[in-house]
Amino acid sequence: MNETPMNASERGRFITFEGIDGAGKSTRIGFVTAYLKSAGKTVVSSREPGGTPLGEKLRDLLLHEKMDLETEALLMFASRREHIAQVIEPALAAGSWVLSDRFTDASFAYQGGGRGMDRSRMEALENWVHPQLQPDLTLLFDVPLEVARERLDATRTLDRFEQEEADFFARCRNEYLRRAAQFPARIVVIDSTQSIDAVRASLLAALEKLL
Ligand code: TYD
Repeated sequence: MNETPMNASERGRFITFEGIDGAGKSTRIGFVTAYLKSAGKTVVSSREPGGTPLGEKLRDLLLHEKMDLETEALLMFASRREHIAQVIEPALAAGSWVLSDRFTDASFAYQGGGRGMDRSRMEALENWVHPQLQPDLTLLFDVPLEVARERLDATRTLDRFEQEEADFFARCRNEYLRRAAQFPARIVVIDSTQSIDAVRASLLAALEKLL
């Protein structure tokens, strides 16, 4: 009897995309999706906050309503809980690759670094909401603040986070980079100021390890 059945129930991979606003992550997700599909993977693309009908309602509140910092952190994790239960876990169990535009590193960076919430609070929420689940790979798109700000100003109406001052984004960026140093096997920092071809080469090198 073959005790190692192939394929049918092989778990998918979980990849998250991070970076400060204006780091250019959203445009790279399309490239990674297309690449993984061409490699024969079933891909589910999603985002946080959001990714479910309830999560999208929470997103609207989070991006536009003023609120207390604790409320903000709790709603981020409430959206995440729903996302994990409704989308991420079922898709991974079915063998799909899940790509999420932001996940828990964003809470550490924004609510922790940016807004100054104690890291131990975030760790407690992380342990509560997803004690077992971590991304297999996190792609952290990094750019200097001035580049991010130029990109943001060139875009559209700014939400509650995008309207923050340079210092706020400096703290978010520092916390992202601190986490990248803390979890070097999971988080790959991609210099998002490189040419499109160079960014793509870095992305492919990171993805190869999972394929
Ligand atoms: P973003 O991915 O920037 O959306 P878009 O590219 O459409 O503007 O995400 C929305 C904002 O949510 C972003 O400014 C970061 C913030 N955010 C947090 O503050 N904490 C979190 O845990 C998450 C997931 C996002």
